[in-house]
Order: sequence, then structure tokens, then C-alpha cells
Amino acid sequence: MSRPFVFVTRQIGSAVLEKLAAMADVEVWPLSTPPPYETLCEKAVNASALITMLSDRIDASLMDAAPNLKIISQMAVGVDNIDVHHATQKGIVVGNTPGVLTETTADLAWALLMAVARRVVEAHNEVQQGIWRPWGPYVLCGQDLFGATLGVVGLGRIGQAVARRAAGFSMKVLYTNPRRNPEAEARLGAEYVTLDELLSRSDYISLHTYLSSQTRQMISHEQFARMKPNAILINTARGAVVDTAALIEALQQGKIAGAGLDVTDPEPINFDNPLLRMPNVVITPHIASAGTHTRERMAHMIVENVLAVFNNETIPYCANPEVYGHQ
Ligand code: GLV
Ligand code: GLV
Repeated sequence: MSRPFVFVTRQIGSAVLEKLAAMADVEVWPLSTPPPYETLCEKAVNASALITMLSDRIDASLMDAAPNLKIISQMAVGVDNIDVHHATQKGIVVGNTPGVLTETTADLAWALLMAVARRVVEAHNEVQQGIWRPWGPYVLCGQDLFGATLGVVGLGRIGQAVARRAAGFSMKVLYTNPRRNPEAEARLGAEYVTLDELLSRSDYISLHTYLSSQTRQMISHEQFARMKPNAILINTARGAVVDTAALIEALQQGKIAGAGLDVTDPEPINFDNPLLRMPNVVITPHIASAGTHTRERMAHMIVENVLAVFNNETIPYCANPEVYGHQ
């Protein structure tokens, strides 16, 4: 029997690749930029497994041209770049990396929140440019976390980890979620409210939803209009959850006080985007899960998922468990 072919769209570390190479012919895309879509399709034609990143578009026509494809093993918890519905229809398993990146991502949401609230990047940039303003009563004043209200949109694993950290700052926590979660509510001391109420009462609003047709641009003009003028929006979920044009307008018109974004729409953000010129906006390039240890664990999970398929086992970290009813 010929060995299965695995295409990996980014360097993921030699130790985990060795495990794969014991069972399969492995090709790793050598660059740090994503393979072009056409290349991905070409590689998929013969592949039994694809190891993918969130910047790889894995659509229906790619899958239809890949007769041997059994698994798409994605190195991320979000799989919105993959047509998961189509994969399920075709009996292709989609793997992801839930759980391990929860705390690392929550940490970065807080890093952004604090950076914007206390103007850390703006202050650092001044110092770096040789500007050390004399100590003054109102120089570089920001806003407190202590006693403020945090609104968590989406109380999944990451939303809960973000909410848990708020206790350390004696913050009031509001949350909204498709389903109320009384257990988490009690544990986190969080209050369940509608999105509209959350927007109008929160000083900090942190987004933790998946990207879907329901959540795409869920924060738009109408939502910014409800926010408090001192509100700071934090997005570590997906850029397209926010209407970028509406965000720019809300910041330009002072409807909100600032934003901390680890995700943008599109990614990368265009260099001429006005958000890059705003001192009250801090942007990081989609690094929320970028802890060395976390990324090592993610690399292990994506390989474990592929090996499970080759061993005819149910994969341990599955984003479309319903696929097992379709096979
Ligand atoms: C990163 O954005 C992820 O979905 O893991
Ligand atoms: C992702 O891990 C989430 O459920 O928030």
C-alpha cells in the first residue's frame, strides 16, 4: 500500500513532523507566507491530510478536487476559513485545537485592554522618540480598570477565561451569549444581559464569538451608537465580527474611546487604514495564541488528529463531530 501524502502549509517544528513522517510522505510549505490558493489546490489533489492555518482558504472546490482527502487538520480553534459544512457532506474530518490556547488568548485580550486603557503604547512611543514630558497632573492619563464594567460577548472557553481575570481588578462582569450559562455565571460572578444592554453599560467590551453568518459584522453602526463614550472595544476573535468602517467612524466621532485589536478585516490590515494612525488604537497581528508552549501543544494536537485518521480512529479534537454520522 502506498504511503499517504500530507501537505503542511507552514513550518510546525521537526519533532512533530517526524511523528508524521513515520506514517506518511510529508511535504511542508517552506515559506512563512501562506501558499497561494492554486498551490494549495494542487497539493490537495493527492493529499490524504492537509495541515492548515487560518490564513489558508479551504473551500468546496478544493475539496472536490481532492479525492483522497480524509482530514483537514487546522492549527487554530477557529475554522471559519474552511467550508466545514461541505467537508462534513464529503465525510472529511475537520480537526482544530480547542482548549490549549484559551488562557494564552485571554492573556492577550487583557494585554490589549490594559494597553489601550492606560495608553501604554502611546506613552512608550513618546519615550522612544525622545519625548519625556515633565510629570504633570494630566499627562497621559487613561482610565481605570478597577471598579469598571467589563462586557464579555460570547462566554465560551476564552470568554470565561477573560471574565475570570476581571475579578483581580474588582470589575463588574456582564456577558451575553446565545445560551445563558448559570453555572459559569455563578462561578464568575457575571450577569447575563442582552447585547444591547451590555453595549450600553460596559466600559470595556471584549469579543469572544466564532465568526459565522450570525456574528459577521455584529458590531456595526447601531451597536457603536449604544456604547458609552469612554468604551474601549477589544477584539481577539475574528476581524469580520466588527464592521471596520463603522469602527473607524465611531473612533473618529468620539463615540467610543479606543480599541485593541488582534484581528482585523481584512488581514493583514491595509497600511493606509486610518486605524493605524489613531493613538487610541493598539493593533497586534493575530498573535493571541502565540505563546511558545501553547504553539507547541497546538502542533502536537494537529499531528495527533492526523495520526488518528491514519489509524482509523476517531480524532481527539474534532470541529465537525457530525461527520462521523456521514461516513
Ligand atoms: C486563532 O485565531 C485561532 O482560531 O486559534
Ligand atoms: C474557544 O476556545 C472558545 O470556546 O472560546
